[in-house]
Amino acid sequence: MVSAGVVCSRKSDNLFPRMKQTSIHIPVQIYPDFHALEIQDAVLYESARNATAAAYAPYSRFRVGVAIRLENGQIITGSNQENASFPAGICAERVTLSAASAVSPGIAITDMALTYINDTGDSNHPISPCGICRQTLSEYEQRFGRSIRLILGGFTGEIYIISRATDLLPFAFSSRELRPH
Ligand code: THU
Repeated sequence: MVSAGVVCSRKSDNLFPRMKQTSIHIPVQIYPDFHALEIQDAVLYESARNATAAAYAPYSRFRVGVAIRLENGQIITGSNQENASFPAGICAERVTLSAASAVSPGIAITDMALTYINDTGDSNHPISPCGICRQTLSEYEQRFGRSIRLILGGFTGEIYIISRATDLLPFAFSSRELRPH
């Protein structure tokens, strides 16, 4: 029986005996605040925080900062860059992924820290990448054959760590579909 998008799992209610059911589990580590982070993560998070200062966000007034650590230890930062033609604006994640790829091509990304601050200074909980950025992150993971660990937090409050960016985009579309099967 299916109602309001919820699949009922009781056997007696299963009118579709050939249907099987599964679920997706996303592991998240929750730290009470950035002081509780491992030093390497705190450094990356701090770089993301500083990167919010370079955001160009006159329309949303929502400044996003990102810092990426590469496999060679290099840290690349970026921020959201908006445009009067709104769709032309680019999220901080994709600005930074593109910068990393342009500056250090072929070097895998190991971690990404993401934070934000708005005009009124509100920044007390984590945000997570938008759908397009999740798709982009997913392709970087696939290209380099390794996962990108996400460190998500506001300027204050809890920090979430997700060990694979693709965990945020189950059933992602990938280039595998574009190859002959
Ligand atoms: N934005 C990001 O840069 N990253 C996110 O994860 C969410 C949203 C930007 C896009 C736009 O410049 C502003 O935040 C408001 O949506």
